[in-house]
Amino acid sequence: MSQATRSMADDPGPTVAARPIAQLPLAITVNGVERRLSVEPWVTLLDLLRDHLDLSGTKKGCDHGQCGACTVLIDGQRINACLKLAITLDGAEVTTIEGLGRPDALHPLQAAFIEHDAFQCGYCTPGQICSAVGLLAEGHATTREEVREMMSGNLCRCGAYTNIADAILDVMGGDE
Ligand code: FES
Ligand code: FES
Repeated sequence: MSQATRSMADDPGPTVAARPIAQLPLAITVNGVERRLSVEPWVTLLDLLRDHLDLSGTKKGCDHGQCGACTVLIDGQRINACLKLAITLDGAEVTTIEGLGRPDALHPLQAAFIEHDAFQCGYCTPGQICSAVGLLAEGHATTREEVREMMSGNLCRCGAYTNIADAILDVMGGDE
């Protein structure tokens, strides 16, 4: 290698200064507690809950909006937390499975899931219950078929669908 070729190969080129990672302010209420945070703009609500707020009840399945394991309630509406950037939720109220009830004061759907044996491994269950809370608030489902259809965004790899529908219908007071 000639001297000229060697000096070109050794030249690292112009240096680019590393830019600091942007942290943006976020005020959000989670399970009734107001939180003031600084988050990177790419952090999803799911990662904010699990990694920043230690609320691991909300589960990560696909991380692509396909399984429903991450379902939470934002201002009362069910949503996939993996598809929502946290920074877009300034001023919002988020409810997770931890905020629905306590061991000594379960939400009616939590109690119904236990009563109807509506889970096996339980991984999908927080998302199923949060989704069911949203479903009941929407008020559109009146039959088993409608419950199954409107809960179809929540997958259960254990196949507990019949018992999940039983639990929801029990709370709804709908058909069996
Ligand atoms: S983890 Fe969000 S939909 Fe699967
Ligand atoms: S209870 Fe196991 S995935 Fe639903």
